[in-house]
Amino acid sequence: MQITPKSPEQLQAQAAAFANAELHGQDQAGVFNNIGAVVAEGAVREPEAKQSYVDYLRQTGGNSNPEVHGRADILHKFQDFAPTVTKLKAELADPAARRQHPDFLGHGTNSDVFKISQGGKLFAVRIPFGEATHPVSIDMHVASAIRGKGIPHMEQIIAASYEDGVTVAEMMPGKVIGDLSPEDVSQVTDQQLEDLVDTVIVANQRDIIIDSKPSNFLYDQHQGFGIVDYHVPKGAVAHSQDLGVIVGCLETVINNAGLYGKKKLDKTAQDYLAQGRQMTANVAVVERLRGVVEAKLSGKDLSDALERIDSGLQRWSEYAADYSDPDSVDKLIAEQQAFEQARKRIIENQHQGDTPVNADWL
Ligand SMILES: Nc1ncnc2c1ncn2[C@@H]1O[C@H](COP(=O)(O)OP(=O)(O)O)[C@@H](O)[C@H]1O
Ligand SMILES: [Mg+2]
Repeated sequence: MQITPKSPEQLQAQAAAFANAELHGQDQAGVFNNIGAVVAEGAVREPEAKQSYVDYLRQTGGNSNPEVHGRADILHKFQDFAPTVTKLKAELADPAARRQHPDFLGHGTNSDVFKISQGGKLFAVRIPFGEATHPVSIDMHVASAIRGKGIPHMEQIIAASYEDGVTVAEMMPGKVIGDLSPEDVSQVTDQQLEDLVDTVIVANQRDIIIDSKPSNFLYDQHQGFGIVDYHVPKGAVAHSQDLGVIVGCLETVINNAGLYGKKKLDKTAQDYLAQGRQMTANVAVVERLRGVVEAKLSGKDLSDALERIDSGLQRWSEYAADYSDPDSVDKLIAEQQAFEQARKRIIENQHQGDTPVNADWL
């Protein structure tokens, strides 16, 4: 009988699945640090770990374990993308210019994401920075991809490389929720809201952690909502999510649409009124979301979700009313200016008295 040697990707997949399931901290990082050398020497070197590695593979069914073959598929698939990713990375050699690249798609706190084209299709390459470049972090994305595979409206990572420190996902259409205009928001249909809630329900059933920031939700007029940047519970994100709470968080995501990251100071009456229009559009969508949630959840999940949705609706509809009314906007600006003058006076007095400025709230 002829034995075909295992491919490097298969061996990496086995070592990574084992390290992810059975090891922690330094031991786990040690295996991932050696993952590129897996062909030459084997990534699992410690004799004790080696025994539990063999046991793990035997007990979990070797390559029939989805954690192993899921990783092997994703690592193999990277071969198709390697030349394009290498070229892209060469173009990004200057870190300061990364976000000026014409194919830059967006960023979060851990990565920059770029568009690439392969075989006539578009894909999103996630290039992390700092700690997030470590193979342990790449494996967190790979593990999430295995868990979230096939869930409609959730990011589908199809390829990754521990050595290159990147993931490749199918391109999700649309804009991040933080960038939507009132006109964009008013396109949202009830069906799209139902699909969004269904997506969160399925993700929760698979024990996936959704990071409910407006930058992790995309919206496209035709395709509806999409969720990126999700994880499986592990280490720092070890707690499973409560369904009612995470569905309730959709309120905050939508009410922040188009407003995320805007500065409060220096706003003109026009700016406030524009925000009032945005808030009014957002609140209208959250009111419809409320109806969808009522139809889909029950018991404690429903009451947890409604608690968040209702308090958000109350707060944001008050803001929406204030920011839409020219008289209250004038008052807001006057208050803002009075506050700013008081702030400056305090700082000047402190300088005159030679006291160091040490008021964090300023
Ligand atoms: N599959 C994708 N399709 C389209 N855009 C994406 C995709 N994945 C990420 N993005 C864009 O990249 C941004 C950052 O990605 P994300 O995974 O959230 O990074 P971080 O881990 O730093 O938060 C997102 O806000 C989104 O704009
Ligand atoms: Mg993100």
